[in-house]
Amino acid sequence: MRRILVTSALPNANGAIHLGHLFEHILTDIWVRFQRMMGNECYYVCADDAHGTATMLAAERLGTTPEAMIESLREEHADDFRRFLVEHDNYYSTHSPENEQYTREIYQRLAADGRTFTADVEQLYDPERKLFLADRFVKGNCPRCGHDDQYGDNCQECGATYDATDLGNPRSLLSDATPELRSSDHYFFDLAQFTDFLKDWTATDAVQPEVTNKLAEWLTGGLKAWDISRDGPYFGFTIPDTTEKYFYVWMDAPVGYMASFKNLCDRTRGLDFDDFWRADSKGEVHHFIGKDIINFHCLFWPAVLHGAGYRTPTKVHTHGFITVDGVQMSKSRGTFINAGTYLEHLDPEYLRYYFATKLSANTDDVDIQLDDFVQRVNSDLVGKVVNIASRCAGFIHRGFDGVLAEGVHDEELWAAVSGARRQLADLYERGDVGRAVRQITALADRTNQYIAEYEPWKHGNDPERRDEVQGVCSLGINVFRALVIYLKPIVPAMAAKAEAFLRVEPLAWEDAGEPLVAHEIERFKPLFTRIDRKDVDKVVAATVAEAESEAAEDEGSAEVSIDDFGKIDLRIAKVIDAKFVDGADKLLELRLDLGDTSRTVFAGVREAYDPDTLVDRLVVVVANLAPRKMRFGTSEGMVLAAGPGGEDIFLVSPDAGAEPGMRVT
Ligand code: MSP
Ligand code: ZN
Repeated sequence: MRRILVTSALPNANGAIHLGHLFEHILTDIWVRFQRMMGNECYYVCADDAHGTATMLAAERLGTTPEAMIESLREEHADDFRRFLVEHDNYYSTHSPENEQYTREIYQRLAADGRTFTADVEQLYDPERKLFLADRFVKGNCPRCGHDDQYGDNCQECGATYDATDLGNPRSLLSDATPELRSSDHYFFDLAQFTDFLKDWTATDAVQPEVTNKLAEWLTGGLKAWDISRDGPYFGFTIPDTTEKYFYVWMDAPVGYMASFKNLCDRTRGLDFDDFWRADSKGEVHHFIGKDIINFHCLFWPAVLHGAGYRTPTKVHTHGFITVDGVQMSKSRGTFINAGTYLEHLDPEYLRYYFATKLSANTDDVDIQLDDFVQRVNSDLVGKVVNIASRCAGFIHRGFDGVLAEGVHDEELWAAVSGARRQLADLYERGDVGRAVRQITALADRTNQYIAEYEPWKHGNDPERRDEVQGVCSLGINVFRALVIYLKPIVPAMAAKAEAFLRVEPLAWEDAGEPLVAHEIERFKPLFTRIDRKDVDKVVAATVAEAESEAAEDEGSAEVSIDDFGKIDLRIAKVIDAKFVDGADKLLELRLDLGDTSRTVFAGVREAYDPDTLVDRLVVVVANLAPRKMRFGTSEGMVLAAGPGGEDIFLVSPDAGAEPGMRVT
């Protein structure tokens, strides 16, 4: 039996869990559940990544403390994952006593061994907010092409990369003040000392081959010392024997894996931290991460662990990025989907299954297509796999009191299905789950053909063919059981329903080796319903609506100049027609008369207004808003309304006398 500790990257404590996080945690969870079905001892820990300037500023904006903010986000994140059936054994926080202790201890071991040093660093400082500015909090003119409004690390116009101190006319995004150049002492981890160690380690199968190649570029280019300190004010842990010097968030974040596990050990009898973390440990440690954070996990982290006398990771499993319909997830397209929004309309196992069909052992980006999502779940999972059980169970109950045959009707088919468990296990182990799902689907196809060949529905009443009908349908049920075993890491709730239907104990991987014979099963109840495409559209529409209200809030807080305001063409309009929009439960489609023109606008007022009552009413419309394509059509403007939304939304109307087309100033 293997002893395995597994982690997913720690989500930042500054926003909601979205599709990208879900992809990572679902793929990790599938691997964990597979290991457990194989009889291995497997622990899965995670945490929120709580520290950093961003947390501090976000809490300030919300008028709360960082501690209160991160705790409520942690609960929300843990809950989102739980609802997606992701079984973390612990979902902790990096802002924990265990993490502080390990981070300090690791640092002290490194420092005592001459692995760290201090040096003066010149940085931009915001004199009003009284803090040093990270690159993303400064803008100015690009030192290469001179273009204005560029961030402190690279230019969007010409692609140059540079230091924030090289920007022309820099300004702080936090206060608009002109930053000063100030110097202060920083603490560094001397990564270059670990070059040879890392060259060896990154060439092992602890990382995927393409990751080895990527890392080789950095390793041959020469490793720079890593700045692991930040000056206060900062939300984090202080560095021992300093005041107002904090560990950079990326220093304590991976230590958070250890801390979350330690916290679990302290609550779990017989689970020992050292069994997994001491240098000669026989336990395995597997990290699952996205490709944007390879350098932290495959250079800094193994070097830090090695330098501090701990074991290095057994394997870092790196995955690519999710795109939706070929492009990056986007709020305005409604594809930057949050966990909570998805769950309001769709079953989590649909997404788990669809993600599984997309998983591979490489780091290529993964494109999610909403039509394909519906198609794969409906036609493969429901139409092929579940269909086998629903076709066969009725005959077993009608003719045979729900009892399966004594033998196996087609040994060859059973051998193919049962024998597949070895290769499928290999594919799961390697993370090539998409290929596994395709093989499972192919076995389902073959079985459906086999059933169709014998046409049990024609012979149910033929006494001569009774045994055949029982044999074929029993084998169908046995194939179904084996396929449920193979899919159980992906769709555990469906598998639990199937286990109840089959009247069996929770299925383990090796159970696919033996068929059920002369065994009584329950009557079949639908295990899984098809996706309704309309529900997918609702998720997209809700995501667009969230993006709009966030944008409105953001705009609400910033000042705009009178010139900016003057750019908005507000007009009086008269509603000539109003109707419901199919598939959108928040929108009404309004036809507006603007005096000399008319146009169509979608407005989120459905919950507050009956469309008939709106006809002939005067409203205020933003007339020069760029047209926006939505699922239901193009919206050519925006109607003004007040209130938080839902039923509490109030259209703005002029006093009597105003006429369609009048400019609002
Ligand atoms: N807090 C750090 C990780 C610290 S680990 C010691 C971080 N947080 S994150 O919230 O930005 O990202 C968490 C994980 O989600 C990362 O592995 C990241 O690659 C992954 N993803 C975030 N967006 C993603 C997609 N669009 N697609 C796939 N995974 C992505 O990085
Ligand atoms: Zn430039």
